[in-house]
This record gives sequence, C-alpha cells and structure tokens, in this order.
Amino acid sequence: MLEPVSTRVLPPLQIGPITVGTPVVLAPMAGVTNRAFRTLCREAGRATGFDPGLYVAEMVTSRALVERNVEALRIVTFGEDESPRSAQVYGVDPATVGAAVRIIASEDRADHVDLNFGCPVPKVTRKGGGSALPWKKQLFTDIVRAAVDAAEPYGVPVTVKMRKGIDDDHLTYLDAGRTAESLGVAAVALHARTAAEHYSGTADWTAIARLKEAVTTVPVLGNGDVWAAEDALRMVRETGADGVVVGRGCQGRPWLFADLAAAFNGSDQRVRPGLREVAETIYRHGELMIDYYDGDESKGMRDLRKHMAWYLKGYAVGGETRRALAMVSTLVELREHLDALDLTLGYPGADAEGPRGRAGSPKKPHLPYGWLDSRELDAEFEAKLREAELSVSGG
Ligand SMILES: Cc1cc2nc3c(=O)[nH]c(=O)nc-3n(C[C@H](O)[C@H](O)[C@H](O)COP(=O)(O)O)c2cc1C
Repeated sequence: MLEPVSTRVLPPLQIGPITVGTPVVLAPMAGVTNRAFRTLCREAGRATGFDPGLYVAEMVTSRALVERNVEALRIVTFGEDESPRSAQVYGVDPATVGAAVRIIASEDRADHVDLNFGCPVPKVTRKGGGSALPWKKQLFTDIVRAAVDAAEPYGVPVTVKMRKGIDDDHLTYLDAGRTAESLGVAAVALHARTAAEHYSGTADWTAIARLKEAVTTVPVLGNGDVWAAEDALRMVRETGADGVVVGRGCQGRPWLFADLAAAFNGSDQRVRPGLREVAETIYRHGELMIDYYDGDESKGMRDLRKHMAWYLKGYAVGGETRRALAMVSTLVELREHLDALDLTLGYPGADAEGPRGRAGSPKKPHLPYGWLDSRELDAEFEAKLREAELSVSGG
C-alpha cells in the first residue's frame, strides 16, 4: 500500500458526467484488455489508495454487436465492481454504429463509449475503415453524429480515438478533432502516429500539443510510447494533454497503473515486483481468464499464453520454462510451471522496462483505389465500406 498524498499533477479528467480521478486511461487493445486484464490493472491502481483511472475494453465491431454475436457480447461484459464501464466500438457505417451504441447505452451495458478511428490493419484500411476513415470527412461526421445521438438520451458520453492521419501528406487529426468536438464528443484521444507508421519509430508528441491547441472545450488525451510513469508525466508536461492513454507499456505489467496513479498524485513510489509477485499475478490472470470464459479452462489458458512473454520480459527464466508456460492448458499445469521458477529472483531493473509489444516498420497503407484523391466519399465506396466491419481484429 502506497501512502496517498494530495499533490495532483493534473486535475481529475472529466469525460461528460464521468469524473476520472487519476487522468490515466488503459488503451483499448483487442485480444488484451478484456475483463480479466482490466481487473488486474484496476486492482493495481486501486491498491495505491489513489483515485482510479479509466480502463477501456477491447473494441467490439458494431456489426457483430448488432447481430448479438456471443463473442461480441462477451467483450462488453464488465466486472461487478467495474465503474465506470468503458466500451469501444469500431464501425464504418453510421446506421450500424448508431445501432450498436444504442444497444450499449439503452441496455445499460457500459457507462462510456469510445469510437475507434485508429486501426491501421490492412484488412480494415483497405476498405476505408479505421485510421483511413477520418479522411472522408462526411463519413466521419455521420458516424460520430450517429454515435452521439444514440448515446445522448442515456447520458452516456462518447469519445473518439484516432491517429494523426494516413501518412504525413494526409493528416486528418486536427480537423477530425475539431469536428468531433463540435458534434458533442466528451473527449478526443490521439495516438500520435500515422497509419503508415503502424507501430514503428516514436510517437510524435508535438501533434498532441497541436491537437490540444485546436480542441479547446473537451479534454485531449495523449497516446503513444508511455512505457513508464515518468514518460506519462513528461507527455503531459510537453503537450499540455489532459490525460494519457497507455497501451503496450502495461502488457505483462498491470502494476504500471500503480506507478501511474502514484506519479499523477505526486508520489515517487513505484512497484518493482520480484518473480514471486509476477508469478502470482500470472496465476490470478489465469483464474480471471477462466472466469471471463464462463469456466472454460482451455479457452482461458489459451488466451493467457500470449501474455507470458510480456510478463517474463527481463526476468532470468530459461527458454524451456518460457515455452512450457506459453503452451499451458490447465490451471494445475500453470501452477506447476510457476512453482518451478526461482521465485527468489528480484526485479531485474531496466531489462523489464522500456518498449514492449508490437513494433515493426512503416508500411504503405492499403487503401481503396483512389481513396486519397478526394476527401468526399464516392458513392460506389459505400457498399465496400460496410464490408470493412466484418471479421476485424484490433490495432
Ligand atoms: C495488441 C494491440 C491491440 C490493439 N487494439 C486496439 C483496439 O482494439 N482499439 C484501438 O483503438 N486501438 C487498439 N490498439 C492501439 C492502442 O490502443 C494504442 O493506441 C497504441 O498501442 C499506442 O499506444 P502505446 O504506445 O501506449 O501502446 C491496439 C494496440 C495493440 C498493441
């Protein structure tokens, strides 16, 4: 338990009616930020005694939600004590996005809805979705308006998460940010990379500062390359952002939310877990995963596997044990492998810190033919756009 102190670095974040005491947001990450992982992040934040942040679920595609697909509905399930409940919707068709947001708001499935305009995955952008979408101004407007209109009667705030644009010659974030603000969104978040950059290089925090100058009536959140609490403090100092959104930095390190809570409340206390604590977190993650999949142990363990390398980054654990953990299929097996670790190992320092997760190199965005020729939507693209909602994974 850290000592709560009252020196806030920033005021609480106000997202419509929701007050987020510590202005830190767990970024939506498909395949990562399900109820199980969010629980670990929230528990870590809460253990500090400081106010909690906001923890966003993985994106759900609007089409799948409207069709009441079982896995889509599972994505928008929250812990009993999870408050506020934050969902993210992806979509390319205004009517479908509106219908999905209406389901969430009218059925009281979440307290906040974020819209995903940041996905750079080729199968999405190829059809004009995700980070390609704000380029088409009217379509962007129609989607945001549909979402805000659907949520408004229920008092559910809508926010927008986007990238800088398609590439350096086709930036969209400033006009998209202003448009979203004028349509009544409660905040805008910027992952300060273009689609072309994917996850390569370093995020351009100067763009966050520019967005903060352009969007003046709702909070602006900065996102990209926060690997430690100190990065988050530097981001708000350098950009004037009203809060930070943290993605890859917490993969395998849910306790980063304790560091962030401490840092934003003026404390320099940081969590530096030894291997025993890491092993306990992995096991708890396993239990929570099984619960998330309604007791299906095999599904839960399969989903846990991808987290192993992140959890063990920097810790002296042999290749064979790592491989065994990454193939685990029951809780009993998980316990055996964890017990076989040298649990006396302490925190490895820098080796466990710094960048982690997706990186890679820049990629020329895959876009519909002629997409960049005009910022207006060609009628013939509309049908293709709707297809972009099908079988989409996050990013
Ligand atoms: C595995 C993975 C899945 C992601 N899924 C989503 C998603 O569902 N919705 C979204 O808006 N962004 C998604 N992102 C992007 C993150 O929310 C975030 O914007 C990005 O990782 C940059 O922040 P970071 O540098 O803190 O990781 C994903 C990123 C990763 C690495």
